[in-house]
Amino acid sequence: MANNTVTIIDNRTGKKFDFPILLPTIGQSVVDISDFYKDTGMFTFDRGFTSTASCRSRITYIDGAKGKLMYRGYDISYLANKKTYLDAAYLLLHKDLPTKQQYDAFSYELKKRSFIHEGMKKLFDAFPDNAHPMAILSSAVAALSTFYFDSLDMDTPEEVIEMAHRIIAKIPTIAAFSYRYSNGLPVIYPDLDKGFTENFLYMLRGYPHHHVELSPIEVEALDTIFTLHADHEQNASTTAVRVVASTHAHPYAAISAGIGALWGRAHGGANESVIRQLEMIGTIDNVEKFIKKAKDKNDPFRLMGFGHRVYKNFDPRAKILKKLRDQLVDELDIDSELIAVANKIEQIALSDEYFVSRNLYPNIDFYSGLILEALKIPKEMFAVIFVIGRTPGWIAQWIELKEQPDMKIARPRQLYLGPNERTPE
Ligand code: CMC
Repeated sequence: MANNTVTIIDNRTGKKFDFPILLPTIGQSVVDISDFYKDTGMFTFDRGFTSTASCRSRITYIDGAKGKLMYRGYDISYLANKKTYLDAAYLLLHKDLPTKQQYDAFSYELKKRSFIHEGMKKLFDAFPDNAHPMAILSSAVAALSTFYFDSLDMDTPEEVIEMAHRIIAKIPTIAAFSYRYSNGLPVIYPDLDKGFTENFLYMLRGYPHHHVELSPIEVEALDTIFTLHADHEQNASTTAVRVVASTHAHPYAAISAGIGALWGRAHGGANESVIRQLEMIGTIDNVEKFIKKAKDKNDPFRLMGFGHRVYKNFDPRAKILKKLRDQLVDELDIDSELIAVANKIEQIALSDEYFVSRNLYPNIDFYSGLILEALKIPKEMFAVIFVIGRTPGWIAQWIELKEQPDMKIARPRQLYLGPNERTPE
């Protein structure tokens, strides 16, 4: 028997069952209930997986009570303030921060792979005007398997890393093309003289044969946003990626599923919803009315950009972005009315009993929406920005899952409440 166990007593029969406690490096211990059904003949019930660890992971750690986030043991504020997004992406994939030489080689690899097959343009063409870029992005990523089918069998670690680089490199180009096509604009090919983040902004804003001015502060701000989104342990979209990967589907299918999961307004779609909600509120005089709506149990209205499943103190990413937003207010032309409304909401929510008692603090999306708006990123691209940032995390999680020899297909059970067998007439 394991040294540490939890005993469960079925008080209907008095039978006792012991389950081993698994110890983490840091954080919560985990009760291993893998044999729960075999031992007890019952399932466990955990709506929204609030108490379930679905995997062993060595990638990202969150302490929700302390407001702490680490990628591979590095604190997020160190990575966001002292390192670039490519450092963070390399760290997630390769388990260590890169040396200068490794960084340059990684950057070169991504540049080399940033172009997409010309045949994919027909795919973009098929979507109607104003199609949401997230819909195009998820379809185009799934379709990558039809253009790059030669290396779907990844038998060696080198082939896996090649696949990882290909996806990270191509997603910004697909994302930019999705936006350009949905707006009837000419597509802009990657510029190999530009860095990862600068090149993405260039593909979004550029025009053929026209010089585009991109200020370093804009590039740095977007790079920080990418870093802050790069991974977040077993969130909804990462779980979607892992579930698809557990069936041995190829990574393009898994990442495409992640994009679908991320789109929802409770997850990555929240940053777009934050701005749309601030615009709807309009002026600071309306704030009280909407706070009241958010608190009304009979009203489905929620304050977007507030609350988090794991952070019950503050979101450390939000703290970094709040500072960045305040810097950008001084340096870029930010809509002052929107900022005033946002500040008023924040001020009320942080002192209101409803929000305080439920630990509802501003999350990353509350500030990232305002920053992306200041960077003149179109609103429908906000969730797409989240996707670009999150891709290395999804891939690192996909690789980790594949490396675990005892990996099993994800297949939860249910509490059936439907009809008993009916007699046909
Ligand atoms: N506005 C008003 N009330 C809220 C909000 C909100 N934004 N968020 C949670 N609540 C209330 C909720 O009604 C419930 O109240 P009660 O206990 O009286 O029933 C309580 O707080 C707990 O909420 P929950 O929905 O059970 O919490 P959850 O952990 O399942 O959901 C969440 C977390 C992020 C989906 C939710 O807080 C939410 O919908 N927030 C707004 C959307 C948002 O900003 N999403 C971005 C999350 S950060 C980016 C990311 O990592 O994906």
